[in-house]
Amino acid sequence: MKLHKIISYLSIKLSLIFFKLRMPISYVIFNKLYSSLILKKNINSKLIKLYDKNGFVKLDINFKTEILDIEKDLSVQEVNPTRKIEVNSTRKIIKLNKNKQEEFLQKIINKLTPTINQLKQYYNSEIYIAKIMATRNLNRDAKADGKYKELYSNHYHNDGYLITYFKIFINLMDITENDGPLHIIYKNEKKKFIKLTNYKNRHNYLALDKSDILYKNTGKKGDVFLFSTPLCFHKAGIPKNYRDNLGMELIAVPHKMKISLSDIYNDDFEWMIKITKPYSNVELFKKFIDHYRYKKTNF
Ligand SMILES: [Fe+2]
Repeated sequence: MKLHKIISYLSIKLSLIFFKLRMPISYVIFNKLYSSLILKKNINSKLIKLYDKNGFVKLDINFKTEILDIEKDLSVQEVNPTRKIEVNSTRKIIKLNKNKQEEFLQKIINKLTPTINQLKQYYNSEIYIAKIMATRNLNRDAKADGKYKELYSNHYHNDGYLITYFKIFINLMDITENDGPLHIIYKNEKKKFIKLTNYKNRHNYLALDKSDILYKNTGKKGDVFLFSTPLCFHKAGIPKNYRDNLGMELIAVPHKMKISLSDIYNDDFEWMIKITKPYSNVELFKKFIDHYRYKKTNF
């Protein structure tokens, strides 16, 4: 095994033991510092307070009308092989016709603006929608949870990104327990989760399907869910038939930036990964300082 792989393995192992998260220890430290020195927790919003406490929250808006407007312009396609992790026959991409993309995005932004403004205050940063991708998860025989083949992030994990990366999900259909809803462990229940499941890694833990530490994101078509994927353990459920979901990746950055429509809709994730998944500790340190300065000068 190469040295950097050993270091990375040890780093993740140590953060699982000490911080109950499966990500590089440098990211855990960045996230903790960010949480205590940069996040504004006493924000005047019940929903953002819940997001801060639990790591997720269902928002009080709904996009059913907007979804009905574009349904005839959606097509289900094979996953583009440029995004390595999701190439399999169990997940398809739902593409929106090009000439509807801008109008749809604008409607989303319009309705999300009050939330985005609150998130700006909470993160003390600028907030941008960096990616939009709709997917269809299909039913496959998954048998014992945590064992057998992983199909589409359906084993418990937390995303190895900085706290400045988070997601918004929109249900493209009514989602019941039978439709493989997203399963999430409350942010403050990591320790209990690891103990209950004897969690070693995303392929080695005991199944957990009913528990007061687990939330399942069921809901109506158009429901909107804000979720910190780096801070909470989560997995996709396995639908009896299929589940259609629109996922948006958002970033908190310490500067204003312009993200083009094609950056948001295309399958190239590299530019966003550079921002939210820094490779070196020097880069990580600089990023923290930038965020800290931005908070001091702009908020
Ligand atoms: Fe994930």
